[in-house]
Amino acid sequence: MLLPIYLYGSPVLQKVAEDITPDYPDFKQLLADLWETMRHADGVGLAAPQVGKSIRLFVADAELLAEDYPDGKGFKKTFINAHIVEEGGDEWEYNEGCLSVPKIHEDVRRTKRVRVQYLDENFAPHDEWFEGICARIIQHEYDHLEGKTFVDKLSPLRRQLLKSKLTKISSGKVSTKYRTKQ
Ligand code: NI
Repeated sequence: MLLPIYLYGSPVLQKVAEDITPDYPDFKQLLADLWETMRHADGVGLAAPQVGKSIRLFVADAELLAEDYPDGKGFKKTFINAHIVEEGGDEWEYNEGCLSVPKIHEDVRRTKRVRVQYLDENFAPHDEWFEGICARIIQHEYDHLEGKTFVDKLSPLRRQLLKSKLTKISSGKVSTKYRTKQ
């Protein structure tokens, strides 16, 4: 089922999300809905807070970017209770967008590598390093679990320049091909 995506400014996008246990109600359905909603919106990642659930869950699929970023080939994963424990490598800029912040794309600096402890869709634990475009998607989605968006990473000047667009988004005045919510 397609779920509405909460827009920038929604309180749920500003909360630190909670870990979950395998008995989380209707988890399988929620996970399937998250994948379906992300694909329908042509996203490369979607975090549970973006569909109104303040839990530490996100999905990522770099396939749409694999042509430009071959290191993303085959990167398709579910992350439950993700915690970034280390970041490394040089910082690099990438032009990020977000389904909760439609029609805004901005260069964001982040480290090249990231080490994440997480559970997969079967609640099996993993402790892995990711890099390049995969790390980038994880870092972006991870911010959603921490109650942040890429807008928080921009300079005060950039944010000021985007202010009227952001105000429109947070009052729902933006058209998207997917359903949105405040
Ligand atoms: Ni996002």
